[in-house]
Amino acid sequence: MADESKSTSPSARQPAAMEKLVSLCAARGFIFASSEIYGGINGFWDYGPLGVELKNNLKALWWQRMVREHSDVVGIDTSIIAHPRIWEASGHVDNFSDPMVDCRACKKRFRADQLDDAGPCPSREGTSEHDLTEVKNFNLMLETQIGASADATQAAYLRPETCQSLFIDFKRVREAARQKIPFGIAQIGKAFRNEITPRNFTFRSREFEQAEMEFFCHPSEREKWFEFWRAERLQFHRDIGLSDDRIRNRPHEPNELAHYAKVAVDVEFEFPFGWQEIEGIHDRGDWDLTQHTKYSGKDLALTDEATKEKYTPMVIETSMGVDRTCLALLCNALDEEVLEDGETRTVMRLHPAIAPVKVAILPLSKKLSEDARKVDASLRKHWNVFYDESGNIGRRYRRQDEVGTPFCVTYDFDSRDDHKVTVRERDSMRQDRVLIDGLVDYLRDALGFGT
Ligand code: GAP
Repeated sequence: MADESKSTSPSARQPAAMEKLVSLCAARGFIFASSEIYGGINGFWDYGPLGVELKNNLKALWWQRMVREHSDVVGIDTSIIAHPRIWEASGHVDNFSDPMVDCRACKKRFRADQLDDAGPCPSREGTSEHDLTEVKNFNLMLETQIGASADATQAAYLRPETCQSLFIDFKRVREAARQKIPFGIAQIGKAFRNEITPRNFTFRSREFEQAEMEFFCHPSEREKWFEFWRAERLQFHRDIGLSDDRIRNRPHEPNELAHYAKVAVDVEFEFPFGWQEIEGIHDRGDWDLTQHTKYSGKDLALTDEATKEKYTPMVIETSMGVDRTCLALLCNALDEEVLEDGETRTVMRLHPAIAPVKVAILPLSKKLSEDARKVDASLRKHWNVFYDESGNIGRRYRRQDEVGTPFCVTYDFDSRDDHKVTVRERDSMRQDRVLIDGLVDYLRDALGFGT
């Protein structure tokens, strides 16, 4: 097969430069600006053919780990727009805001707690300092109108977090799914926040996805379950391939706790722009169920069948940002390796379970396409496969390395006689000759967990 230069050393991880990542993501169809041909729209992003596969893989692994592997957790899918009173009860109407200032000269808007990032004012003479207004609180919820006729419309909000419906539906889901305390409800869905300063690629967006789970337990068990879910969630991020030395738990200081949280621990990842939160684990206490009982008039407390004790369950929440975790996975994986011949190989070292394409089929010549297509068709039943027959084989390998494809299968002129193909592994670039009949089993073993 193509003679690839071996790496001079096991590749040392290089910090993934955001600029390189952003341009690779756009060029290769992972993630790019929404509404690109109109100049983009700040804080909104589109996922291309590779991006949507990566994101779907992450969501499927989360669902598997959080719902299917726990008999005491069930999944639901609820509407994005819900009764506006929910957001009064939850505290979002009064409390979900960031401190904001405007510059009177350049008209830019900044978060008052992030003025270090404001940069110089381009519009003032004799000084580069911004001419800032007083601090105002800016509510982050996006409003919309529902109802067809102008005089009967009603203001509503696009949900700023997916979890409120898990509280609202708590009693119905518990009864329908015949669950007893403790148990959890999970969902994945879109959330919207009118962030004052969206930034760092998809890290702070105005439209994003959350994967949240609310675990309802007896007050005497809240510490136990908090610790259980904290450890589970950290392990999940390790299992999907985030490097141990780039993830950590960081407990919140009392002064940074959200209005609903009694205790909170973040899962943080070391992005090229610093350590930042990708998931929050919160002890929300009985805040939400008590508030919704008060505002809806429907009692969400329970009576223990055995002891007849009436109590409001405590809630432990795990809240993962899907887009932030995708970004962490991409930053974690992007590597540049100098080969023996001095060439630099860009390689996305994604865990196979996360990789958008699992196998690429690369016939050595177009003359072999008919047979190579048969191999391609047999693998498509199992995984997302990419077929590429144009160009030099070395360059085709590089293109797959760049998007993180764990295995390339080359069909060559000997394949017709020996019924074997060459399987090349992305990270080691090792090549194995494998019988076509045994290819699915070989790849299943090699791809491993989650595939
Ligand atoms: N229900 C709790 C809740 O929403 P949060 O800490 O505000 O808690 C949870 O959000 C996760 O959602 C964060 O850890 C982050 O990954 C993601 N997230 C929050 N705001 C985001 C934004 N503007 N853009 C992208 N992801 C965001």
